[in-house]
Amino acid sequence: MPDPDLPPPQRRDLVRRFDAVRRHTLALVETLSPEDQAAQSMPDASPAKWHQAHTTWFFEAMLLRPHLPGYQPLDESYHYLFNSYYEGLGPRHPRPQRGLLTRPSLDQVRAYRQHVEQHMHRLMADVSDALWPEVARTVELGLQHEQQHQELILTDALHLLSSHPWRPALLAHPSATTPPTPMEWRRHDGGLVEIGHAGSGSGFAFDNEGPRHREWLEPFEIGNRLVSCAEFLRFIEAGGYREARWWLSEGWATVQTQQWQAPPYWLQDDHGHWSVFGLQGVQPLDPAAPVMQLSFYEAAAYAEWAGARLPSEAEWEAAIALPGMQQLWDQAWQWTRSAYHPYPGFRPLDGAASEYNGKFMVGQLVLRGGSLATPPGHTRPTYRNFFPPGARWQFSGLRLARDAGAAAGGTHPTSQRTSETAA
Ligand SMILES: [Fe+2]
Repeated sequence: MPDPDLPPPQRRDLVRRFDAVRRHTLALVETLSPEDQAAQSMPDASPAKWHQAHTTWFFEAMLLRPHLPGYQPLDESYHYLFNSYYEGLGPRHPRPQRGLLTRPSLDQVRAYRQHVEQHMHRLMADVSDALWPEVARTVELGLQHEQQHQELILTDALHLLSSHPWRPALLAHPSATTPPTPMEWRRHDGGLVEIGHAGSGSGFAFDNEGPRHREWLEPFEIGNRLVSCAEFLRFIEAGGYREARWWLSEGWATVQTQQWQAPPYWLQDDHGHWSVFGLQGVQPLDPAAPVMQLSFYEAAAYAEWAGARLPSEAEWEAAIALPGMQQLWDQAWQWTRSAYHPYPGFRPLDGAASEYNGKFMVGQLVLRGGSLATPPGHTRPTYRNFFPPGARWQFSGLRLARDAGAAAGGTHPTSQRTSETAA
């Protein structure tokens, strides 16, 4: 949650940050045509045009309507069209039908953005000193919210383009290949650890990251890097998608009904060569690059096959302080074995934003870290991302863990190698 004990940022600084975040959203969609930005490829993904309007609606609904005297919306119907899931703010257009919103046009959505930005500037300039701290906290929440949607713009557009025969690139610049490094196990001695956001004085965090609290951990080991494409390919070639014994029951049922045979953006040609569709279009499989777009089911099956398991979110958070940990934030979110539940003492935000996180705490699994699509500076050690176990269009991969002293089993080539590093 926004930190109530820090002095409010200077208005000028917050306006500058507001403008920068808003500009970045537009930069992300530069390579998308208006038609690209209107299409919806599946019920869970939203059109880029909708993301641009919804992030704007958030500022209008949470700040301009309650706090800017005399504010006139550009179009009253947008409050219905671009509300995502806030029951307290009234009825809304069904999520699976966002792609049917051919109107307003992209130009009209851009005009909506400008209208709200102009009035946000006025609010940030004119609001009283007494109200400024509350307004500043909600502006920050709106910016963090927009950054979350910036990643969704990329994941959703990538899913859309993956279903087009051209498989066009979203980003112009080529991807760098990853230098291969052997995975090493890092040991944590376990014991009583503290996880979660400390709240006052520690900067911004979403409400679901706190309160900070104690967890007991048994000794464990964790991979110093993510599972690579080459490693995941061995799972595929060993028949991993054809053997029920590696899979959770729901996962195996999904493999069969959806006929999963590889991660969703992997492509195999007639000669058996693999390539991968990503932000740069179709590229030859990079053996050392982390495997991504995995569901929880696939991540858990791979870990089982490798003689390991997924870390709990408490293990993950405790492990980031170990020496030599790599690919924590900059490649792929990492599925954990932890259900997305409230921490002890969790309290949602006040007001309309109370619906932001808490009501989704059922039926989902936590992912930790960050990805190559996460805006710089957006994530942190306590960040809790969450998705249902079958979701496989995010930049989601895995990092292996295992109980300390459990090095005997496993078909994974690195399952025998243990670093002496201690917590
Ligand atoms: Fe949202």
